[in-house]
Amino acid sequence: MTLKTPIRCAVVGNPIAHSRSPEIHTAFAKQFNLDVHYDRILADRNDFNDHVRGFFAQGGTGLNITVPFKELAFSLSQVRSPRAELAGAVNTLWLKDNVLHGCNTDGVGLLNDLIRLGFNPKGKRILLIGAGGAAKGVVLPLVQAQPSLLRIVNRTASKAHELAELLRDQTSVTVESGDLTALDGIWDIVINATSSSIDQQNPIAGALHFNDTALAYDMFYGSEPTAFLQYCQQAGVSHYADGLGMLIGQAAESFYIWHGQQPAIEPLLASMR
Ligand code: ATR
Repeated sequence: MTLKTPIRCAVVGNPIAHSRSPEIHTAFAKQFNLDVHYDRILADRNDFNDHVRGFFAQGGTGLNITVPFKELAFSLSQVRSPRAELAGAVNTLWLKDNVLHGCNTDGVGLLNDLIRLGFNPKGKRILLIGAGGAAKGVVLPLVQAQPSLLRIVNRTASKAHELAELLRDQTSVTVESGDLTALDGIWDIVINATSSSIDQQNPIAGALHFNDTALAYDMFYGSEPTAFLQYCQQAGVSHYADGLGMLIGQAAESFYIWHGQQPAIEPLLASMR
């Protein structure tokens, strides 16, 4: 009798002990009766490349990459998806024909979560707050969903302008940019992609105006609504959500890339809450 070896996957980051990816991927694998063994790998800047090469040399199937190595993973990838190119960051690695491939699944994770929440971006006016790594990771799938407008605002306005400029080469959707005071207009979807929620700070100071049916979304997740979501509630938003669905959604897309199966998100979302 031969023993079948498990499919090996892992997430690399620093810190990594808090990562919920093993729990998510193990639950997905159960949906398809797949024997997936998913590890956490703690790396540093000096040994990140060795960890990645070693993992694939030993027959590993797929790696997720988290903070602070997404840019390093981007440089290491020999073939990159358009989403990864625009993001300048890679969160999913796999080997195909001995060539290292990289993708960024964050944007698809967000998009699927917006759709799940009943807010398909098509034809909507979207305000995206932030122009750092998290924002870059999601803008391409967002404009590909054909909103009527995407405005990117950021504390450092020049970064919002640069990102908007990059995006205009890729889309015919109207893309505007500005600083954190450029909030005028009535919004259907407002997304916080800044890291302000880590410190329980609300990134915006000015007044926000929402459509009757509108969504405030924070990519950060936690047990309580973030300062940004509380602010939006006070401003009268009808719906709000944190980023747990996006976290599970980006994992689902990585899972699909590696195993060719599309896992169901809802059951896991309910149990992780
Ligand atoms: P990440 O990968 O999490 O996006 P990042 O690339 O360092 O991290 O970007 C952090 C983002 O959060 C930036 O858009 C940053 O604004 P600046 O570009 O002006 O630095 C934004 N940010 C962080 N803390 C903030 C705060 N308290 N208020 C508003 N914006 C904030």
